Amino acid sequence: MSDEFQKKVEEAIKNPTNMGEMADADSIGTVGSANCGDMLRVWVKYKEDAGKKIIDKATFQSFGCETAIAAASLAMEMIKGKTADEAMEMSGEELAADLGPLPPTKVHCTALVENALRDALDPNAAAGEENSPAQPESNSNLMDDFSQPESKGSGVKLVFLDEDK
Ligand code: FES
Repeated sequence: MSDEFQKKVEEAIKNPTNMGEMADADSIGTVGSANCGDMLRVWVKYKEDAGKKIIDKATFQSFGCETAIAAASLAMEMIKGKTADEAMEMSGEELAADLGPLPPTKVHCTALVENALRDALDPNAAAGEENSPAQPESNSNLMDDFSQPESKGSGVKLVFLDEDK
């Protein structure tokens, strides 16, 4: 791993922005990596702007490595003001572009961010929707949900990454 990359990751995690659960989120996405066991949850809030539904704010929580936290912190800022479709077009590497070129061993960390966002931005992932019964409460945090069985309606909805991509 290059010193430059490591320095950028350390800078980003020194003062991560947009961290923590969002009580009034419109949608939530949670992914886990079957490869490394790390997890990331994203909360998204929309607003109307000139007739378009755009992302007002997004926050995250992570049981993940420093790169995933740094990438999520940057990505939450980058998607503000975009529509869901525009944000979903962005790859993990684009979302973490400020970190510079990723070492091959860290590409999956930004994929975790990309896929948590995709899960949150999926129209079927809206909080409280009937077709997503395992969707967590918007004000729950990742740690709380680990201690709740999914059968009680508040467990973690996990979407595992396709690590072969
Ligand atoms: Fe798993 Fe970074 S090592 S997300």
